[in-house]
Amino acid sequence: MIKRTKSRYVFLLVVFTIVIAAAGACGSPDQTDTTTPTVTTSSQVRFSADIQPLFNSRCVACHQGVGDAGLSLEPGKAHASLVNVASTQSPLVRVTPGNPEQSYLLHKLNGTQLQVGGTGSRMPFGSSALSASQIDLVRNWISQGAQNN
Ligand code: HEC
Repeated sequence: MIKRTKSRYVFLLVVFTIVIAAAGACGSPDQTDTTTPTVTTSSQVRFSADIQPLFNSRCVACHQGVGDAGLSLEPGKAHASLVNVASTQSPLVRVTPGNPEQSYLLHKLNGTQLQVGGTGSRMPFGSSALSASQIDLVRNWISQGAQNN
């Protein structure tokens, strides 16, 4: 009888240990889950803070007023000139929210415009390409829905 109680005790101890271990194992993915949104939030691209300043320094000199290729990238005009607006030189839309590959803007920055039926030069015209991280910003902004945020 005593032996039986003892083995029951041992059994409970084992179960208890397993439950604790399982809770611990569940804890780690939970922690990862809570950090993932934080990472996403910190890499959330903002049009006003991340994209427009790029346009101001590298593009607006040519793309203002009516703008070269009919594209104005001035503050207050750039978003409306890009998002869901047909390109003047390719079958693509300039920016398709959520779809970088279908966004002519990105092809012009990468120099892949001819491969998607476009024309002309890589942008910025006549000067060095944007850095890979700057182009990534534009790509992520489009992937995240090309918001006017
Ligand atoms: C020195 C002048 C100049 C600068 C700077 C410049 N562009 Fe352009 N852009 C042009 C000209 C000219 C064209 C039309 C000819 C061509 O595509 O080569 C054009 C065409 C475009 C087009 C095609 C528009 C359409 O409707 O198909 C896009 C998109 C574009 N530029 C984006 C940009 C971006 C983004 C920047 C800055 C990173 C930039 N450009 C910088 C002169 C410029």
